[in-house]
Amino acid sequence: WSLLAVVAGLAYLLGAVPFGIVMARLFGLGDLRKIGSGNIGATNVLRTGNKLAAFLTVVLDAGKGGIAVLIARYTVGEDAAQIAGLCAFLGHLFPVYLGFKGGKGVATFLGTLLALAWPVGLLACAAWLICAVISRYSSLSALVSAAVSPIFMVYTGNGSMLVLGLVLTFLIYVRHWENIQRLKAGTETKIGKK
Ligand code: G3P
Repeated sequence: WSLLAVVAGLAYLLGAVPFGIVMARLFGLGDLRKIGSGNIGATNVLRTGNKLAAFLTVVLDAGKGGIAVLIARYTVGEDAAQIAGLCAFLGHLFPVYLGFKGGKGVATFLGTLLALAWPVGLLACAAWLICAVISRYSSLSALVSAAVSPIFMVYTGNGSMLVLGLVLTFLIYVRHWENIQRLKAGTETKIGKK
């Protein structure tokens, strides 16, 4: 139990690292929270026009979820891996380093799924990508990917992830509340647009 608590705490602290803000600072792009949607994710980094910074943000934000899962899996076990994925995701949403005001969790969600069960992760990434190519909306792609990922869990024989999947999907919808309003009003910005 104590090892699980340490691993869960580490997963939270890792998930809480706001790589979008770190990349924006490193690349001299300013404070991400004052740009575009104000969100700390890769979509908002891309609004600065710096594709490399946005790419690194998505890789690192996804990677932190994946690494948290792998550390937990190899030190404690599979149940701990799910808990670590949840903790990393919650870290991104409620980061201690930013006064608990974090991001929307999409990249961390995808990285966590890839590490927990790669077929589910790949299908969720594919759903995001297909929707992004068709609609050009990052938020809509995230909402579609989050909605279909529990179905992928069941159909790939990863039903043991379903409770976690439903919790993550629910939190992604809550975090995208403003995006949903903008999508309905037709005022949501498309990928790469300011
Ligand atoms: O991954 C976050 C995305 O779904 C929405 O980001 O900046 O357009 O609110 P943003």
